[in-house]
Amino acid sequence: MIVAQDPTALRHHLDPLRAHAERVAFVPTMGNLHAGHLALVTQALETGAKVVVSIFVNPMQFAAGEDLDTYPRTLDADLSALDKIGTDVVFTPRETDIYPYGSKAHTAIHVPGLGDGLCGKNRPGHFDGVCTVVYKLLELVRPDIAIFGEKDLQQLLIIKKMVRDLGLPIDIQSGATQRAEDGLALSSRNQYLSEEERATAPLLWQTLRDCASQLQADRSADVVSVLTPATTALEQAGFDVDYLELRATADLRPIDRITEDCALFVAARLGKTRLIDNIQIAAA
Ligand code: PAF
Repeated sequence: MIVAQDPTALRHHLDPLRAHAERVAFVPTMGNLHAGHLALVTQALETGAKVVVSIFVNPMQFAAGEDLDTYPRTLDADLSALDKIGTDVVFTPRETDIYPYGSKAHTAIHVPGLGDGLCGKNRPGHFDGVCTVVYKLLELVRPDIAIFGEKDLQQLLIIKKMVRDLGLPIDIQSGATQRAEDGLALSSRNQYLSEEERATAPLLWQTLRDCASQLQADRSADVVSVLTPATTALEQAGFDVDYLELRATADLRPIDRITEDCALFVAARLGKTRLIDNIQIAAA
């Protein structure tokens, strides 16, 4: 496995691959890799392409007061896990490689509409930061395929729109959310949970499943009558709920019944840890 620490080294390794008409599949990450990330990399390897993984904790997507400074950085363990599963190239740029004049001075990419609600509402600027770094990484790696996790479904839909709108010739694929045995979606932030919070956390996924079953059982049911008691139950269990909402997956418009493909999205804090999850629901 090759570790490219800057764009010049990356180019040096990728140019010969392209010259030999190798396809490249790309998985961007912020490191602290868990089984969810490794499943995305395995999916990339299964395409038969050469696989590039980036590790970059992107300052532009953290708002003031968020966990940028304490975000877990575990480069040695990440490299060893990626090497073990057969990753071809790991790209570990420095902040100045991505933002030569600092992230605050950098041109931002804004995808209108999709980023306004859900996490966009409570994390202003977050998706502009995500889109900007993903665009920069896509320009540097120039992959044929890029893979993003469905756990961050809003992010995935925004990136798909950005790539479509900007006409980038990249096939954006998604990887299923990986879960612990009790249903909790795997996330780097789970390690912030205390023992007691960790025991409560799976309620988020159980709630999504219960609400989805209720809405599917009675497709004429108004979503408010299902989501309001579910939100109250989460709050009684100790969650501070940012949102629990039904949105169309085509454009993330709020909807009140299952009349098209959609997803239930939830974000809630347990103590200091903000957890997100979603469940997709097909129209028929
Ligand atoms: O999903 C993530 O880990 C990040 O948002 C991403 C896509 C690597 C951009 O920093």
